[in-house]
Amino acid sequence: MSTAPTTVQAYRASLLHFHADPAFTEQAYAWHQDGLLVVKGGRIEAAGDYAQLAGTLPPGVEPVDYRGKIITPGFIDTHLHYPQTDMIASPSPGLLPWLETYTFPTERRFEDPQHARSVAEFFLDELTRCGTTTAVVYCTVHPQSVDAFFEASEARNLRMVAGKVLMDRNCPDFLRDAEGQVGDSEALINKWHKRGRALYAITPRFAPTSSEAQLRLTGELARAYPDTFIQTHVSENKDECDWVRQLYPDSRSYLGVYEDFGLMRRRALFGHCIWLDDEDFARMAATGSAAAICPTSNLFLGSGLFDFEKADGAKALLSLGTDVGAGTSFSMLQTMNEAYKVARLKGSYLPALRMFYLATLGAARAMDLEGTIGSFAVGAEADFVVLDPQATPLLARRSAHCDSLEEQLFALALLGDDRAIRATYAMGAKVHERG
Ligand code: GUN
Ligand code: ZN
Repeated sequence: MSTAPTTVQAYRASLLHFHADPAFTEQAYAWHQDGLLVVKGGRIEAAGDYAQLAGTLPPGVEPVDYRGKIITPGFIDTHLHYPQTDMIASPSPGLLPWLETYTFPTERRFEDPQHARSVAEFFLDELTRCGTTTAVVYCTVHPQSVDAFFEASEARNLRMVAGKVLMDRNCPDFLRDAEGQVGDSEALINKWHKRGRALYAITPRFAPTSSEAQLRLTGELARAYPDTFIQTHVSENKDECDWVRQLYPDSRSYLGVYEDFGLMRRRALFGHCIWLDDEDFARMAATGSAAAICPTSNLFLGSGLFDFEKADGAKALLSLGTDVGAGTSFSMLQTMNEAYKVARLKGSYLPALRMFYLATLGAARAMDLEGTIGSFAVGAEADFVVLDPQATPLLARRSAHCDSLEEQLFALALLGDDRAIRATYAMGAKVHERG
């Protein structure tokens, strides 16, 4: 099991982290061209200029030399499915046939704890290879899939959020909870929530696969355990939206179904949010719920384009998710790349600084974990990533011609992927090194 080093460690590199959303605040970030990150007992001790901090190091502490690299907080992926790792890049004409053809048969295999553990191991290795240190993860309906996931994340000392999928109708019998049952989720909360770095997410898959009875009990569970997370899907695909209108005719909207059952609150994360109206985004903001925007998935399944302008108009909390396995990459850099293009197609513009904010502090805020992850605030958990602007010949060539931080980050987002991740650290311990 990986544990946080107790001694002081220091890292010399360029440092970037945020203290505000650059979409709404002019000086939203700290940048130290020749910076020093000081870590003690797995937590941030200091982040600043090398010239100012080098003299404060205890005798004998030699900084790790990452000059020429950029250190940022570890990336946070707020929506993905670990059981779908083996079916990434499966072709299908849209969400509902994709679920029937690939997803449900693939998830069936997680009945077997050994299979679940081996996929969880690969999945977490892939995340850390891509610089992601925290993720909000769907397991399957099987409680053993949650045990397998948290056992693997505990062994790596990663801050992970995950939960058992709740599903009691409109799905195959082999993946179905007994009608209205949520008891397994409560037992898993008691077993895993806040054990080490694990946090539990109450996980109704989406409104069509839960009966009213199950959603009602899910809402009660969310009220009984107010510091757990909630994750689900909403307004991803037009056919899905039509289906929800038929199933829940009394709710104002698809998102309104979740609000009617008490599932909109702080730490509620809604995947996709493509076909929401202004009132929906206002409810997101008013309740402190957050959107997990999944551009590679939305383009892959042809679901639609997230409307950044509408969301920002309401000041809704936003974050980015890969949505593996409908998403086509584990890399948050590649997720930024596609988010940028989605914004352009909707007539908006998403600067690179905003995208790095969304993948770090923005996600931490969306998850109500500011001060714990997502920045280099003193005392925060030392989860960070070392980005290499010279990782590939093309990236090196483009980086040589960057005239600003914005251009450099943009090149990393558009041209980078797992190759641009030189190293990843969790609680001050190295969990990945490239090459
Ligand atoms: N809606 C309900 N389940 C899923 C899923 O597994 N993936 C995606 N993209 N959408 C969903
Ligand atoms: Zn999803």
